[in-house]
Amino acid sequence: MVSYKELGLVNSREIFTKAFEGGYAIPAFNFNNMEQMQAIIQACVEAKSPVILQISSGARKYANQTILRYLAQGAVEYAKELGCNIPIVLHLDHGDTFELCKSCIEYGFSSVMIDGSHLPYDENVALTKRVVEYAHQHDVTVEGELGVLAGVEDDVSSEHSHYTRPEEVEDFVKKTGVDSLAISIGTSHGANKFKPEQCTRDANGVLLPPPLRFDILEEIEKRIPGFPIVLHGSSSVPQNLVTTINKYGGAIKDAVGIPEEQLRKAAKSAVCKVNIDSDGRLAMTAAIREVMNNKPAEFDPRKYLGPARESLKELYIHKCKNVLGSDNKA
Ligand code: G3H
Ligand code: 13P
Ligand code: ZN
Repeated sequence: MVSYKELGLVNSREIFTKAFEGGYAIPAFNFNNMEQMQAIIQACVEAKSPVILQISSGARKYANQTILRYLAQGAVEYAKELGCNIPIVLHLDHGDTFELCKSCIEYGFSSVMIDGSHLPYDENVALTKRVVEYAHQHDVTVEGELGVLAGVEDDVSSEHSHYTRPEEVEDFVKKTGVDSLAISIGTSHGANKFKPEQCTRDANGVLLPPPLRFDILEEIEKRIPGFPIVLHGSSSVPQNLVTTINKYGGAIKDAVGIPEEQLRKAAKSAVCKVNIDSDGRLAMTAAIREVMNNKPAEFDPRKYLGPARESLKELYIHKCKNVLGSDNKA
C-alpha cells in the first residue's frame, strides 16, 4: 500500500471547493505515456493551473499500472523542477468494479471514479457506496455517475445517451457519500459525438451540434447546491486538427465536438471538473502525421513524438486559459 500523500499528490476536495467558489473548472486530461504526461505538466505549470491526471482501465492495461504510478510520481517532481508546485490529482477514469478502485487506491491514486451509470439505480447506489466507504478510509475522493453518455466509455459503450434525472441526484449523493457527480447533459465520448442528422449546418456547411441541456444542469444545481459536478466527453474536436489529419492521409469523417463557449459557460457553474481526452489524441495524431508526411526519411521517434508533445502542450494551455479558466489558480 502506497499513500498518494507520500507521492506528493492531492485529492480533489480542496481544488473543487476553490473551483466552485471561483467559477472555473479543473482540467482532467487522460494520459497513457510519458510524452502526454510531460505535455500536461509543462502546460499546467506554464498556465499555473491545478490538474487532474486521469488513467482509464484501458490505459492501465496498455502501459502497466506500476509504470503509470511512477510516471505520476515523476509528474509531481517534474512540476517542482519546472518551478511551480501545482496541485496534481491522480484519478482513475471510469472504474467499473470495487476491486479495480481498491487496487488503484492501494497503488497511490488520490481519486477514483466508480462508474455504475449503466447499472439499475439501486445497484449503482450500492456499488458507489461500497467504493466510497473504502476510499474515504484513505482520504481518497470518489466520483460517481448518474445518466448515460453516448459513445464509448472505456469498455462500456452505449449508442444512446440518457440524460441525468435531476430527481435522483439528491438521493444518490446522500446515500452514497460521493464527493463529485458526473452527469449526462448532452456531452459524449470520442471524436464523433453526434451523427450528422442530429446536427444543423452553418452557412459554410460546418456541422453545429445540439446544445448542451443547461436546463438539466440548473435543475441539478438547485437540488444539490454547492456540490461539484463533472462533465465527461468534453472534447471540442478542433476542426483544424481534423483537417490536418485528413490532409496527411487520415480518414476522420463527420467529427464534431462540444463548442468551447458552452464549456466556458459550464465551467462558471457547478461544473468543477471537465474531462478531455479525444482532443489530445487528435493533436498528437495531427502532429505525427504531418512529420511523417513532410519528412518521410525520418525514423527517430523523438522527431515525431517531440512535435506531438509540443502540440499537446499548446492545446492544454489553451484549455486552461481560454476554456476552463483554471489558469493562475494553482
Ligand atoms: O472515457 C474514455 C476515455 O477517453 C478513455 O479512453 O478507455 O480508450 O483509454 P480509453
Ligand atoms: P472526450 O472523448 O470527449 O475527450 O472525453 C473524455 C472523457 O470523458 C474521459 O473520461
Ligand atoms: Zn469519460
